[in-house]
Amino acid sequence: MVDSVATPEPQLLKPGVKAPVAETLLTPRFYTTDFDAVAKLDISANEAEIRAIVDELRADYNRHHFVRDDEFKQSWDHITGEKRRAFIDFLERSCTSEFSGFLLFKELSRRLKKNNPLLSEAFEYMARDEARHAGFLNKSMADLKLSLDLNFLTKSRTYTFFPPEWIIYTVYLSEKIGYWRYILVNQHMQEYPEYQFYPLFRKFESWCQDENRHGDFFKALLRSQTKLWKSWQAKLWVRFFLLTVFATHTMTVFERASFYEAIGIHPRKYNNRVIQETNNTSARAFPLILNTNHPEFFWRLEQCSENNLKIAAINKSNQPSLVKFFQRIPPIIAIAWNMLQLYLIKPIDTETTRGTVL
Ligand SMILES: [Fe+2]
Ligand SMILES: [Fe+2]
Repeated sequence: MVDSVATPEPQLLKPGVKAPVAETLLTPRFYTTDFDAVAKLDISANEAEIRAIVDELRADYNRHHFVRDDEFKQSWDHITGEKRRAFIDFLERSCTSEFSGFLLFKELSRRLKKNNPLLSEAFEYMARDEARHAGFLNKSMADLKLSLDLNFLTKSRTYTFFPPEWIIYTVYLSEKIGYWRYILVNQHMQEYPEYQFYPLFRKFESWCQDENRHGDFFKALLRSQTKLWKSWQAKLWVRFFLLTVFATHTMTVFERASFYEAIGIHPRKYNNRVIQETNNTSARAFPLILNTNHPEFFWRLEQCSENNLKIAAINKSNQPSLVKFFQRIPPIIAIAWNMLQLYLIKPIDTETTRGTVL
């Protein structure tokens, strides 16, 4: 049994335009980086692979895919209640994270044009893809009589600075986890079409190939920088980013369990599968992956999620702020403790077997 939080009624910025949800550690972030340092990256160690992926991105296989065909042209008023609220929440979260990718890639493309034309071209194609994805999701929200003001979002959100190394690790992981999230929903819908209450999910099959290519680009970029996979510091960072991405995923899936249940997906099974597949995929890029088969692995991730739900309940209660502050301390300590225990689980070395299993 999975506890979930009932999705709140959407707040409006103006009629038909949804106010973005409050920023928390779990909402998709907007990033900025040291653009000059990215422009100076020496990619010669893996240039052939990077060029091959840029060729693929240039081919633009999905240029005719994002079309709103006749299936979309009908009323969606029959989607009501918690299902409607949870679906809007899913669309908003997905749209925001696609749009966040668009803004970062667009800026990278613009700032690298002069000094690193190859990377600039790659980021231009990836920005093109993310703009399509965000636009398609926003039109789906409009079918539910709401949309996001992306201009407002661009100006109002805080931008988190990440050095280029962190951007490479986290964007690689978010593209690959995005691929698995979309493809597993699509496979589920193919198997159980009765849950396909809206035609968006049908689009995920080709859509996720964009994310897969983006991930492959970041993998090639990562492997071109020896210090990002060969140093002991790299190994510590990789463990950290794998863990934070998987913990965030677990917390968001369980927080939004009602959406997954509405489309017939078991939240725990889905979360575990997405994490296992993403972890296995990242063996191609990273010098190590996490041991998801360790008996405590998913149990501790779920402990983090349960404590996150406790924090959400405290935040929603009518207690005075000071009381809430003290009430939040035990669950925050519990999350930190479980994350530390997870971090200390011995990881799996992927460099020694590289070339034989990949
Ligand atoms: Fe995307
Ligand atoms: Fe992407």
